[in-house]
Amino acid sequence: MNINTISDTILDEASSAERLRDALDAFVLLCSEITNIRPDPSFSAWAQDSLSDNGVAINAQAAAHCALDYERSVVFIRGVYAAIHALQLRLPGTVLEILYAGCGPFATLLLPLLGKMEAGEIRLSLLDIHQRSLDSVKLLLTHFGFCSHSVQTIKADACSYKHPDKLHLIIVEAMQKSLEQEPQFAITANLAPQLSPYGIFIPQRIDVSLCLTDLEHEKKLSKQSQRHGVDELKKHTGRHLIKTICTLHPEYAFDQMQRAQTNSDGTMLQLEPIMVEIPVMASVAQLDAALFTTVRVFEQYSLQDYDSQITLPLKCHELLPLVGGDRHQISYQLGSYPRFNFRRLNKE
Ligand SMILES: C[S@@+](CC[C@H](N)C(=O)[O-])C[C@H]1O[C@@H](n2cnc3c(N)ncnc32)[C@H](O)[C@@H]1O
Repeated sequence: MNINTISDTILDEASSAERLRDALDAFVLLCSEITNIRPDPSFSAWAQDSLSDNGVAINAQAAAHCALDYERSVVFIRGVYAAIHALQLRLPGTVLEILYAGCGPFATLLLPLLGKMEAGEIRLSLLDIHQRSLDSVKLLLTHFGFCSHSVQTIKADACSYKHPDKLHLIIVEAMQKSLEQEPQFAITANLAPQLSPYGIFIPQRIDVSLCLTDLEHEKKLSKQSQRHGVDELKKHTGRHLIKTICTLHPEYAFDQMQRAQTNSDGTMLQLEPIMVEIPVMASVAQLDAALFTTVRVFEQYSLQDYDSQITLPLKCHELLPLVGGDRHQISYQLGSYPRFNFRRLNKE
């Protein structure tokens, strides 16, 4: 499969799941052969990851592996394509200034689309903290013959990078489920204010919600949900939404970061905490508490629970065993290891 067939297959809404997998497998194989970077989900081993003040930047092999999170890649690529089309309608005749921050070694969310654009339509900046990824991306651009496009690579920290011009499109996917570990929040807070008034930030919104459910039961049903949809899954598992505990919306991220405060023992910076109360209901102690993530990439292109690695549930062991009437404070911790923290509040 060549790069044009790969992108046509991914963009074709009628492609079966199997064809989409084949296309992404072919993309990764092609990129690996050209760059000699083999996908490896070694992110849990921390090998060659960069630990920054705002989160972990996973190494090039682990970033390459993200392409094989099939539904994630498909939904993002389609969303990016739709966003570029929307911008061309909004700003006819404008050369679109695009920043893809955290592009990784294969620039997966945009590279397959470059063949669909005319040279001169876009000015593209591919940014990553790892030089190895940028070297890899340069090889791919040359190999696929995309050098007629105006493309620059930038080695920088996306949490502090300032682009010289206003941007029409910003793409960032530096996250894991529940916004844990990687710096999606801090990158969004830094880059979103650099968007032009008609610009588009991808993803448009990320929500993390606390729910009570039976995770084992959900896991069994999640395979069927691919056929019946997430709403059916929720109905059959009797999942209880407690609260959306964090929304990462590009427009508000900078202000949220500005309002972040150090916690009571002065050890970490955190977003404004929220309170939740466990409902008093039968058999609550038999349920799990878990964080569910949904990602709205662009307009109708979104990732729901279980669609991808980045929207899998995360069990909150800290809240177990669940006790009806208990109140907890939840705060999103920024800094070198972003994550949610839980504190049980004493009963009055
Ligand atoms: C989860 S990978 C995703 C790679 C690619 N965007 C994709 O979707 O397939 C995140 C990428 O962001 C990069 N990254 C993480 N933190 C960064 C930072 N602060 N500045 C620049 N790049 C960063 C990592 O090096 C890695 O390549």
